[in-house]
Amino acid sequence: MIDTSNENKDRQDLTQFDEIWLFGYGSLIYKVDFPFIEKIQACINGWQRRFWQGSHDHRGTPEQPGRVVTLIPAKKDDITPCHGMAYRVSPEVFEHLDHREKNGYLRHEIAIEFKDGSSKQGLIYIADEKNPAFLGEASVEDIANQILMSRGPSGENSEYLFKLAQSLRVLNAVDHHVFEIEARMNNDLRNCTYLSETAK
Ligand code: BEZ
Repeated sequence: MIDTSNENKDRQDLTQFDEIWLFGYGSLIYKVDFPFIEKIQACINGWQRRFWQGSHDHRGTPEQPGRVVTLIPAKKDDITPCHGMAYRVSPEVFEHLDHREKNGYLRHEIAIEFKDGSSKQGLIYIADEKNPAFLGEASVEDIANQILMSRGPSGENSEYLFKLAQSLRVLNAVDHHVFEIEARMNNDLRNCTYLSETAK
């Protein structure tokens, strides 16, 4: 299994800061298992959320990896913002998150944009295509199917998807990639129920 936690420690010296902004676009939107000073809805530009990262440690296993989100650079001319949640946190929080997100995610600096038009530099976790757990592009059908088949120590992979989609709706944020996978999964689950009902 990969462990990017030591690499993350060496990437930025956070000891000089009293507080740091963190941007969450995946489980960090709804699984807030860390203390924060302030939390505000925000977005970033130039990145798209994708279920292209493998999860061997949380929502899958080494034998049956799940799929979780990472960010890929947006296509040229795509100005769709990626919505999420910004947290003002103390530097110690990153020790916890470096461990929680050690399966290929590295910390990057990012400009976080707030609704009032202001912006702050902060940190974000991204798992790029060079990390060994990167699964990359697949059809909506294949992604939905893999998510429905996978579970790990943190629970069902489908719970991750459904919680993320629901959190985005609460933020009034549209993400076609996430919502298309959700719709496909709901359809697959309905068909499963129908088939098991008719087999009775
Ligand atoms: C996030 O929600 O921002 C996040 C997702 C995966 C790994 C690390 C952070």
